[in-house]
Amino acid sequence: MTRIVTTFPLPDEALALLREAGPVAGPEGWRDALADAEALVTILTEPIDAALIDRAPGLRIVANAAAGYEHVDLAACRERGIVVTNTPDVLTDATADLTFALILSAVRELSRAERSLRAGEFHGWGFWDYLGCDLAGKTLGIYGMGRIGRAVARRALAFGMRIIHHSRAPLSPDDARALEAEAVSFDDLLARSDVVSLHAPLTEETRHAFDRGALGRMRRGSYLVNTARGALVDEAALVDALRDGPLAGAGLDVYEDETAIPPALLDLPNVVLLPHVGSATRETRARMAMLAARNAHAVLTGRPPLTPVDE
Ligand code: GLV
Repeated sequence: MTRIVTTFPLPDEALALLREAGPVAGPEGWRDALADAEALVTILTEPIDAALIDRAPGLRIVANAAAGYEHVDLAACRERGIVVTNTPDVLTDATADLTFALILSAVRELSRAERSLRAGEFHGWGFWDYLGCDLAGKTLGIYGMGRIGRAVARRALAFGMRIIHHSRAPLSPDDARALEAEAVSFDDLLARSDVVSLHAPLTEETRHAFDRGALGRMRRGSYLVNTARGALVDEAALVDALRDGPLAGAGLDVYEDETAIPPALLDLPNVVLLPHVGSATRETRARMAMLAARNAHAVLTGRPPLTPVDE
């Protein structure tokens, strides 16, 4: 009798904890084990929709090992009394570090420089070669000042950047002071930022927030960095903004369809492209798996979940 189904390979420590609550099935053949499942431990590549949930009539918790949960049908879970949890906090620093790596890579054009060296085009130091731009004194515009946005702002301060942000929820007065961050309208964020970094969740409101019109209102020569969700940006419009302006470059870790990156994007020289690795450190992925397991274990043993999604 399966009590817990996992859709991805779990580390030993997480498996051991789950086994205290009952037998674990998956990831091999996990869909077939749903009929007996009380807990589903899963990741963002598996859409958890009503049809899937209906295959698990005894399900009590969807323990999602990711911060984002747009792939889980929250309304269907709520109707059936199923708890949904995510893994905030444990991935904040890793994702903010990767964001900063992308900001630096974009403004210093590291991908283009590396490709050039590998192509045998580097024949010694040149005064006017491989020029990027400084970060110090520039303005970073953060779209979505949640945990990750604030962690990016802390890093940006150390690089001497000015910080403006546009967010659903206001910053606490303490954070606003500590981060020296100014809240601005969406249009001001676009017009004033040298680098715009995206950290909002994907919702019906934020989908394609960076559409053709918004991208066209960004500063000439500015950069867009996205480590949040691909669909915040209209990718076809982004390609045009990178090709014809106003953007000088971009750094992307996420895409509208992560199984099919548009060839037009792959062909652009002024964009750094990463394969959705924001939280991909050994320590962080272990913490995410463990937190998802703890959430499932808590619900199966009659305790409240540690990090419920409350929407
Ligand atoms: C990764 O993209 C996450 O949401 O955890």
